[in-house]
Amino acid sequence: MEIRVFDSADEAARAVADRVARALAERPSVVLGLPTGRTPVAAYAELRRRHAAGDVDFSRATTFNLDEFAGVHPSHAGSFRTYMERHLFGGVNIRRDRIHVLDGAAPDLDAECERYEDAIAAAGGIDLLLLGIGANGHLGFNEPAAELAARTHRVRLAESTRRDNAALFGGDPACVPREALSMGMGTILKASTLVLLATGERKARCIERAVRGPLTTHLPASFLQVHRSVELYLDRAAAVLL
Ligand code: GLP
Repeated sequence: MEIRVFDSADEAARAVADRVARALAERPSVVLGLPTGRTPVAAYAELRRRHAAGDVDFSRATTFNLDEFAGVHPSHAGSFRTYMERHLFGGVNIRRDRIHVLDGAAPDLDAECERYEDAIAAAGGIDLLLLGIGANGHLGFNEPAAELAARTHRVRLAESTRRDNAALFGGDPACVPREALSMGMGTILKASTLVLLATGERKARCIERAVRGPLTTHLPASFLQVHRSVELYLDRAAAVLL
């Protein structure tokens, strides 16, 4: 695991934007995996800025988002699709037909998960998968549990995760869907390179356990330790226990 520690969250975000820009420059047809959450907002803003300056070109890239809420229409204000439009897709030149986000309103959610796995395979797999981390050590929406699913699947969200996502649903955790769709741990670990961005003291404990702790399904991020190409971008606060 390559661990990079930056003085501030902004610097870490800029470094992740650099990493994506480099991947796009090296391979314009790169297949990217993308996270949501508060953490990557600054990195996406930086990518939009660089695109506007003519420095980053997404015209041949393909993207797959990690997860989406179940029962939430893509046009809903709280959907991850809406988040992505606001923070990245609306501000760069990604071709619409190369954007992939799970459809939480699909009539058959299991079939939607299968379709997604097939689409990732048809794209040749994910080259660079950006990740955030939940305070409970989840990746995507792979929540701590006795077992982890390998493939894209439906998941029941932890209460803490519903609280963490309340802002997307008017601030009320009760309004956050109980279920979501997420790439599985196998889907994530099959990506060629994993780039995880974590900032703030709240993430310090799960980062320490992910890097130093035993492999356990109760901390899904601990499985990063078995991947051969993982880059951690941390600010000082998130790295404080390392
Ligand atoms: C969300 C997403 C994850 C994200 C995590 C952390 O629920 N499903 O992909 O990495 O929680 O979010 P934040 O960056 O807001 O702390």
